[in-house]
Amino acid sequence: MKEKVNIWQKLKKPIIALAPMEGVTDTVLRQMICKTGKPDLFFTEFVNCDGLTSEGRDVVQRRLKFEKHEKPLILQLWGSNPDTFYEAAKLVSDFGFDGIDINMGCPQKDVMQHQAGAALIDKYDTVKEIIAAVKKGAPNLPISIKIRLGIKNNNILPWVNFLLEHQIQALTIHGRSVKEGFSGLVHWDKIGEIVKLRDSMNLNTIIIGNGSIKNLGQGFDIVKQLNLNGFMIGREILRNPWVFDDCINPNMVTLGKRLDLLQKHILLYVKTWGKTKNFANLRKFYTMYLSGFPGASNLRQQLMQQNSIEKSMQLLKNYRKENYD
Ligand SMILES: Cc1cc2nc3c(=O)[nH]c(=O)nc-3n(C[C@H](O)[C@H](O)[C@H](O)COP(=O)(O)O)c2cc1C
Repeated sequence: MKEKVNIWQKLKKPIIALAPMEGVTDTVLRQMICKTGKPDLFFTEFVNCDGLTSEGRDVVQRRLKFEKHEKPLILQLWGSNPDTFYEAAKLVSDFGFDGIDINMGCPQKDVMQHQAGAALIDKYDTVKEIIAAVKKGAPNLPISIKIRLGIKNNNILPWVNFLLEHQIQALTIHGRSVKEGFSGLVHWDKIGEIVKLRDSMNLNTIIIGNGSIKNLGQGFDIVKQLNLNGFMIGREILRNPWVFDDCINPNMVTLGKRLDLLQKHILLYVKTWGKTKNFANLRKFYTMYLSGFPGASNLRQQLMQQNSIEKSMQLLKNYRKENYD
């Protein structure tokens, strides 16, 4: 029988992905990005394996929500216990995701204190068990891993060599160490070394580069320089939701269009999450749409003070009447 081609092989290269971002890339944001310019591949926010398999799993399972048009979509799991990785992978194996990604790069203290995320770096025995557990739990799905460049920018090639030996389909590297956090130089040279290592091992594992990429052009240049198979963009989406569509110049997007999109985002958020998510969580998305026009900052400030959908929508309606219609 012909083996099924997995999503990592199927997608045209270079693969352009939206980064998984906790508190940001839920189904609502992903659906909005489908309207402003869809990447080749979406990831969910990271989802905790222990939570998914605990008694309170209903709450955690909400994080798995998605609509068909968000596909292809990779579910990212985090945890430290191979048994719960197995249970979680088994649970989600027929939910319609296109793959499972294992988070081995999260630098958050509370995650690392649980021996998860970046705390898994260099934990050879546990990681071997985790990879095997996910494969066993979801044998139908390709497995990928997302990492950073170690805890302190140490030599991570032996560690990456170990990961690549485990027949994973893809590896995403955020080109900073845990200590470096989210700012400062991205060590693209080290990502290049990982590509060379992969090639020297005669493997076809997909390698995706990540770190402060601002636009598609920059991503394509890096791919070419390093012979990567793709790139991933994260935070830029909060400044420019049109980042995945290079036919759109964000400076040319009209105020009317921006207001439309924000109103759609608010309505979809409330429809999707109702009272299960705090309305205030929406505030981080205001800059996405409301920037680059006179009075944007003032409008954002006024919106920040509204704590209900009705008041926010009314404010936007009035603003549109006074400034656009
Ligand atoms: C608010 C926020 C939440 C994040 N959540 C996750 C996550 O759930 N899983 C993950 O692998 N990385 C997470 N990251 C890291 C991003 O996926 C990405 O690696 C990082 O932001 C660097 O890419 P960028 O410079 O394009 O944003 C998060 C980053 C931010 C800023």
